[in-house]
Amino acid sequence: MQTKIILPSPQWNSQLTSLILELEQIRTKRLYSTIQSDIFFQLKDIFQMLETLGSSRIEGNHTTLAEYVEQIIEKPIVNDEQQTEIGNLRSAIDFIENHTDETTKIDRAYLSNLHQIVVMGLTPPPNGEGSKNPGELRKHNVQIKKSDHTPPDFIALQDNFDEFIELINRYHNTQNQLLMVAIAHHRCAYIHPFDNGNGRMIRLLDYVLLIKLGFNVKQGRILNPSAVFYGDRDAYYDNLSIADSLNDKDILNWAEYFLSGLKNEFKKIDTLLNESYVRDKLLLPALRFTLDRQIINQLEYNILSYLVKQEKMTIQSKEFDIFGINSSAQKTRMMNKLKQNRLVKAIKKGGRIYTINFYNSPILRGIIKALDENGFVADFLNKNE
Ligand SMILES: Nc1ncnc2c1ncn2[C@@H]1O[C@H](COP(=O)(O)OP(=O)(O)OP(=O)(O)O)[C@@H](O)[C@H]1O
Ligand SMILES: [Mg+2]
Repeated sequence: MQTKIILPSPQWNSQLTSLILELEQIRTKRLYSTIQSDIFFQLKDIFQMLETLGSSRIEGNHTTLAEYVEQIIEKPIVNDEQQTEIGNLRSAIDFIENHTDETTKIDRAYLSNLHQIVVMGLTPPPNGEGSKNPGELRKHNVQIKKSDHTPPDFIALQDNFDEFIELINRYHNTQNQLLMVAIAHHRCAYIHPFDNGNGRMIRLLDYVLLIKLGFNVKQGRILNPSAVFYGDRDAYYDNLSIADSLNDKDILNWAEYFLSGLKNEFKKIDTLLNESYVRDKLLLPALRFTLDRQIINQLEYNILSYLVKQEKMTIQSKEFDIFGINSSAQKTRMMNKLKQNRLVKAIKKGGRIYTINFYNSPILRGIIKALDENGFVADFLNKNE
């Protein structure tokens, strides 16, 4: 029998209510960047890499950050099961960004598509992280690894899932909308609709629901809230399991945990959209590191740090006089060399204006180090378990 999932009400003077109010202020704020868009998109790529890697680490995917960074620098990426899993999460984010706006109905077909993308090409359980029935509700009972919670019997699943779909598409008052996202995350994990890949799906669903609710995460195009959970998997599991009682107090506790993680993610984004922060805390220290490691030479360092200090973070070869390079043939040769070494890239294809290239580049190691030193990389990503 289908019943309606009722949202519990937080106390007016609770921590949870303040969190909701703080997050509300961010909702319509355009996550606006003064950084040159090329720099911004490279940062976005790096974050997407950290997040997808983080999300797949929750699964117990043992690709460490260092290995993964090396793979990105050294292309081609080895196409084993783990890489497929990471690639799928990237495709899922693309799917979401291309198919979701404030009017999108997050129905069964949408979720089925998303699940198929998440598990595509992966070996079904018990041996792999794929699914026996991609995009379909499970037809048997399941246990969750490392958890005491037993999801509902598969016979009740259809009703449970319909209730869940109704919850996420129903109109909620503004003050209840973020609460709904938090509760939907736990509820979906609790009913465990698919035979596998539920965690990955649910973390993506957060992103979907935030876009649907008008959070400018999509324009920011840098935030996938799954990052909230990759820092501390034990805390994530503990908090979920407390909410398994389904009583109001425990559910509200979960919501507080969830929304405080989300708030921290938004804070990070705001910082990263700040041009001087990116220049002084990330790019310049990364270049220094790359020089110290002798990955670039002094001249390359001089040119690249000059570039980064320019207002638009760009350079043209005609400016190379200041580095003692005078003939135009030498200038062209120097720029070509920088390009070949993947240290710079043209802003427009075939154009003459160049910016720093730090994603698919030897500078990436330094960037990751700088991000780590500034608290952007969860500790456990670095551990070699
Ligand atoms: N006590 C619990 N109550 C509800 N859900 C839980 C609980 N413990 C864990 N979960 C959820 O179950 C997920 C694991 O389920 P499943 O193996 O289907 O997902 P996955 O995507 O394959 O794995 P992972 O989430 O580890 O990447 C966890 O990520 C979490 O979201
Ligand atoms: Mg699994």
